[in-house]
Amino acid sequence: MKIFTVVGARPQFVKAAVVSREINRLAGTGLAISECLVHTGQHYDEKMSDIFFDEMHIPKPVHRLQIGGMSHGSMTGRMLEQLEPLMQAEAPDWVLVYGDTNSTLAGALAAAKLHIPVAHVEAGLRSFNRAMPEEINRVMADHLASLLLAPTDQAIRNLAAEGLTGGKVVPSGDVMYDASLYYSKLVGQTDLLQRLGVTAGNYFLATIHRAENVDDAARLGVIVEALAQSSKRQPVVWPIHPRTHKALRELKLLEGDRLANVRLIDPVGYLEMVQLEQHASVILTDSGGVQKEAYFFEVPCVTIRHETEWVELVECGANRLAPPDSAESIVAAVDAALQTGVFPAGGLYGDGNCAQAIVAALLAAPASRVRRG
Ligand code: UD1
Ligand code: UDP
Repeated sequence: MKIFTVVGARPQFVKAAVVSREINRLAGTGLAISECLVHTGQHYDEKMSDIFFDEMHIPKPVHRLQIGGMSHGSMTGRMLEQLEPLMQAEAPDWVLVYGDTNSTLAGALAAAKLHIPVAHVEAGLRSFNRAMPEEINRVMADHLASLLLAPTDQAIRNLAAEGLTGGKVVPSGDVMYDASLYYSKLVGQTDLLQRLGVTAGNYFLATIHRAENVDDAARLGVIVEALAQSSKRQPVVWPIHPRTHKALRELKLLEGDRLANVRLIDPVGYLEMVQLEQHASVILTDSGGVQKEAYFFEVPCVTIRHETEWVELVECGANRLAPPDSAESIVAAVDAALQTGVFPAGGLYGDGNCAQAIVAALLAAPASRVRRG
C-alpha cells in the first residue's frame, strides 16, 4: 500500500511525525506499506519547518514544493496544479491529509478529482464560524474524504450532523496526544528557562497567529495590551509566529517599554515548545494544537478567541475562552486560570495509540474504496 501524504504547515509536521513513524515501523516488519511525503512549502522558515523534520526525525519529503506566502486562492490553486501530476505519477492507494490548512484542502481536492481516496486526520472539527479560512478547509476536506479519522466524540457528532456517517467515520483519538507522549520523553535537561530569565511555574506562555486576531488591528492591540498587563503578574514568554511579527511591526505595537517583561522570541522547535508548555503557569493562545497540549501537560489554558473546536476542554474546565474584545477580560481569565490549579489529563483524546489506529484504518479499507484514479 502506498500512502501519499500532503503536509505544509507547522502543526501538520507534528501530526505527521507520529504517523510516518508508524508507517516506517510497519514497513520494517516486512509489510508492503510505504509513504511518499510531500511538503507544499506553505511554511518555509527554518523555525517553522526544517527544525521539525530534524528534531522529530520526520522522513525527508520526497517532493518539496515552494508554495508559501501567498493569498488563499493563489496558494491553493498552485498547490492543486503541482500536486495533481505528482499524484498521477506516484499512483498512491491513499492521499493522507491533516487538519485544516490550505495544504489540507489542496491535497484533498487534487486527490478527489483524480478518484484517489482521501483520508482526513482530525476530521469533524468545527468552529461553526465560516469567516475562518480553516472552517472552509475542514468542511471541504471532510466532504471529499473516503476515510474520516475523528479525534473526539464531538467530532463524530459534527460529521453526523452533516450526513457523514457509517464505516468511513473512524474514531481514532488525537494524533497530537501521541506526539506529546513520545516526544516529551526526548526533552532532555536544558537551560532554556534560565536563558529566558524565567523559572518553572512562574511565567505565562503565549502564542498568537489566527488570521482573525492578527489581521484585525484592534484585536491585535487588545491582545498586546492584555499580555503587557499580564506580564506585571508574571513574565510572559511569547514565541512569535512570522505572520504576527509582521503585523506587530507594521502596527508599531512592539514600541515603548510596556512589553519589558514579555520575552519576545522567534518560534521555537517542538522540543523547546514542550518544555515551555510543561513549565508555564498558564498558557494563553489562539492555536488549536497548543490548547490541547496545555491539557496534555496539565497547564490551565486561556484561549483568545470567541469559540473553539475543542469544546470538551472548555466543558471540563481545562480551558476558558477569552475573546479579544477587552484586555481586562483576558487578564481576568488569566487570573481565574491561575486559580484552577492542576487537573488530571487523559481520557479526552484517546489512549496515545492514534497513529496505529490511523494506519490500521488505512490498511483495513475495503478494496472497493482503494482504487486508482
Ligand atoms: C496557517 C494555517 C492555519 C494554521 C497555521 C499554523 C491556512 C489558511 N492557515 O496559518 O490554519 O493554524 O498555519 O501555524 O492554511 N510566514 C512566514 N514564514 C513561514 C510561514 C509563514 O514568513 O514559514 C508568513 C508569510 O508572510 C505568510 C504568512 O506568514 O504570508 C501567513 O502564512 P500562511 O501559511 O498563509 O498562514 P498562517 O497564518 O501561517
Ligand atoms: N509550536 C512549536 N513552536 C512554536 C509554536 C508552536 O513547536 O513556537 C507547535 C505546538 O507545540 C503545536 C503546533 O506547533 O504542536 C501547533 O501549531 P500552530 O499553533 O502553528 O497551529 P494550529 O495548531 O493552531 O493549527
